[in-house]
Amino acid sequence: MRKRSMLVVTLSLCSLIIVSFLVRGNALALQTTPGTAKTPVARGEYLVSSGGCHDCHTPKTFTQQGPVPDMSKSLSGAPADIKLPAVPPGLISPTGWGALATNDLTAWVGPWGTSFAANITSDKTTGMGSWTEAAFIKTMRTGKHKGALRDVLPPMPWESLGKLTDDDLKAIFAYLQSVKPIQNKVPDPIPPKR
Ligand code: HEC
Repeated sequence: MRKRSMLVVTLSLCSLIIVSFLVRGNALALQTTPGTAKTPVARGEYLVSSGGCHDCHTPKTFTQQGPVPDMSKSLSGAPADIKLPAVPPGLISPTGWGALATNDLTAWVGPWGTSFAANITSDKTTGMGSWTEAAFIKTMRTGKHKGALRDVLPPMPWESLGKLTDDDLKAIFAYLQSVKPIQNKVPDPIPPKR
């Protein structure tokens, strides 16, 4: 009888130690993989900040260290009044350069013409505030503007982003819908000169 209760106590102690180890292990895992078990908006912020969206979608200010993202215009795309430097004829060709970008990386010239990084803030008229989640996911999966219209142009990496899970794309959309709306009408793409 005494032996049995000793066994029970030992077993309960063991399970306590195992549970506390698991909980601590979990807590550590949460700290080292930000974005995993948080809200969709927090996960979306993590995916947007680690996924390079600001590189192209956030205008820059110029410092001695070079261009840095201007977070007061976070994710608002190519500025409406962007000035494009002239592209020397013949620079972009199968044996020359493949593409060029403005120094803030919001406008790009290549064989596809000129593309301007979209305003992906929650602004209803010039951003994505009136988009549905389904249209956003379809855009990333099909490379069609708003999921159904013209082709989305390079260098928007929709093919790799489209490999994210539905939950991750939903989280990105939830975050983008939660950011400050910034009114900025990005210029329309310019087709290539023939
Ligand atoms: C290398 C530059 C680059 C990166 C990195 C980038 N984008 Fe883009 N993105 C663009 C450009 C350029 C366009 C405009 C394409 C066009 O007009 O067809 C665009 C367009 C979009 C659009 C609008 C698509 C449509 O239907 O018109 C969305 C939404 C978008 N990007 C989301 C994102 C998100 C979210 C990320 C980060 C996970 C991201 N982009 C990373 C360059 C980029």
